[in-house]
Amino acid sequence: MITRETIDRIMDAVDIVEVIGEFVHLKKRGANYVGLSPFANEKTPSFTVSPVKQIFKDFSTGKGGSAVTFLMELEKFSYPEALKWLADKYQIEVEEIKKKENSPENDERESLFIVNEFARNFFAQNLLEREEGINIGQSYFKERGFREETLQKFQLGYCLDKWDDFTQSALKAGYNEEYLVTTGLTIKKEDGKTFDRYKGRVIFPIHSLTGRVIGFGGRVLKTDSKTAKYVNSPESLIYHKSQTLYGIYFAKNKIRDEGNCFLAEGYTDVISLHQSGIENTVASSGTSLTVEQIRLINRFTKNVTILFDGDAAGIKASLRGIDMILEEGLNVKIVLFPDGHDPDSFVKSVGGTAFREYVKEKQQDFILFKTSILLQDAQKDPLKRAEVIRDIIESIAKIPDTIKASVFVSETSRLLQMDEAILMAELNKLKLKGAKNKEKEKEKESTLPPYDPSFGYPPELHGLIDIEPEPEIAADNDDPQEQEIIRMLITYGNEIWEEETTIAQFLIEAIDDIEFGNRLFATVFEEAKFKSGEGELIDDRFFIHHPNNQIRDLAATLLSSPHALSENWEKMHEIEVPDERTKLKQAILSPIYHIKMRKVMRLIKENQEKLKDAKTDDEIIEIQTMHVQLKQVEKSIASELGAVIIK
Ligand code: CTP
Ligand code: MN
Repeated sequence: MITRETIDRIMDAVDIVEVIGEFVHLKKRGANYVGLSPFANEKTPSFTVSPVKQIFKDFSTGKGGSAVTFLMELEKFSYPEALKWLADKYQIEVEEIKKKENSPENDERESLFIVNEFARNFFAQNLLEREEGINIGQSYFKERGFREETLQKFQLGYCLDKWDDFTQSALKAGYNEEYLVTTGLTIKKEDGKTFDRYKGRVIFPIHSLTGRVIGFGGRVLKTDSKTAKYVNSPESLIYHKSQTLYGIYFAKNKIRDEGNCFLAEGYTDVISLHQSGIENTVASSGTSLTVEQIRLINRFTKNVTILFDGDAAGIKASLRGIDMILEEGLNVKIVLFPDGHDPDSFVKSVGGTAFREYVKEKQQDFILFKTSILLQDAQKDPLKRAEVIRDIIESIAKIPDTIKASVFVSETSRLLQMDEAILMAELNKLKLKGAKNKEKEKEKESTLPPYDPSFGYPPELHGLIDIEPEPEIAADNDDPQEQEIIRMLITYGNEIWEEETTIAQFLIEAIDDIEFGNRLFATVFEEAKFKSGEGELIDDRFFIHHPNNQIRDLAATLLSSPHALSENWEKMHEIEVPDERTKLKQAILSPIYHIKMRKVMRLIKENQEKLKDAKTDDEIIEIQTMHVQLKQVEKSIASELGAVIIK
């Protein structure tokens, strides 16, 4: 457990604008800063940071909170992880007191990170200090022109060419075999034998946005080898290939500062370019680009320059994928390199400055590039030309900004030697069709499976607000204390109660023995319990986008209460609302104890009623014993309640 003093020191040092600014491109607007939400895919910025209050609010997802909450949301950090990250940033020494265990899932994530960290250090040490590492690994990297400081910056490594040198060392150092296997560092065969995945390979650690090692790539050294050139970490709790860009940790600040991201294909392209001072470079690691990767770039800039290596066939194959980038509203440029060169080899042969000049001179807008490539093929064949036109218009139709789209129409009309008006008409037709398809999808969605009151809709349907539940949930009893608990659950569910526990988790534990009189409240609570059991976050967004309209309405009503911290509300009503957050614990405990108190009082009364019908001495003694016990419970709740109210 991190000490209170350390937390205070961290909180004093933190500047939320600076912290969030590392991940989101923020612009000053009035007293606040705004930017594109990192949690939603939005086109106009709704993500607001208040330097005065040191909080952020994301109006498109409803998420909000401190710098700590932000990191927890963004990087799926646990509370202590987020604090440690901040402590590291602001060079504050962390004091810890040993404490009980984490939740199992966090435990596993944390264990995987720890194993990866060990592996990274182990492989790096092999490369820098052990004979085989120096002779084979280091000379390979040196031959490729990587300097000493580059090996260190990218934490490159080497795995000895022995069956299980790494695995044995890790086991000896006390690491759990299970985690070695889950991270993929160790491969376990059916007969139980274990060996190193990266045997005899040089190692490229893959970092998260915040610099933790989430996976590895390992490259063979022999060119004639029959095994795959690269092997990579398998998917795990911490490594999702499709959501990762190699180099993003080292590149993110430069991408934001330069307002442009260079997208290459491989590990070595990224490293060579960084070494040559071109640090706004990341790589998709060989796979075709995914929407998640594009959105990752979109957090830092709207401008992507794709550094293509390879032949015409390869380029044509990736044209489709690039339409996806257009769809996300990014500006895409393309650069090709002279025959046989990839960015790595090219920057090595001409140097950083000439590389930049080359890119500046040769980069072409994607649409125009695509047009000229396809036209080369079509030559004078009129049928093929028609196909090309259709294809290009399809790409342009993906661009969400209509003004930008029409500029492209007029530019391509020249290349295609086609009347602009005809192209424009074609574009509009396509857009109309696109809109109709979306309508159809919506219709499909509304013939969904029925609402099951005990489970709600299947989780994948949450957030689809167009569907209504079959049965009405009777709200038969309007108890203010119950309502207060539900309000706390909806408003603050996702926030931290203490340590690893969210307020939702706390509430679920604390009132497990209480039955809500109000069925709507009971349903909300049951759903929260179910979701929480599934390991999902319970936040206001979950309820605001709930498929059941009664739950949605309830959430909206409760969330718009003047207590819920909302600058908008204060502005609208021009009054100061006492900030409930400062007394949050009290505000949450109070209704819980009130309800518990009522329950005990009812039980006492029911127990006393039984006395009337009691016939034997045994029965009477039993009832009296029960009475004494209940009275004790009543007393303890009363004192808790007193403490809460006095505080
Ligand atoms: N890749 C992979 N598995 C392979 C081949 C490639 O995962 N069998 C991924 C790697 O991330 C690699 C990227 O695709 O970095 C690009 O592949 P390639 O251009 O072949 O590799 P380079 O990065 O150019 O590596 P090198 O220069 O060492 O050949
Ligand atoms: Mn290469």
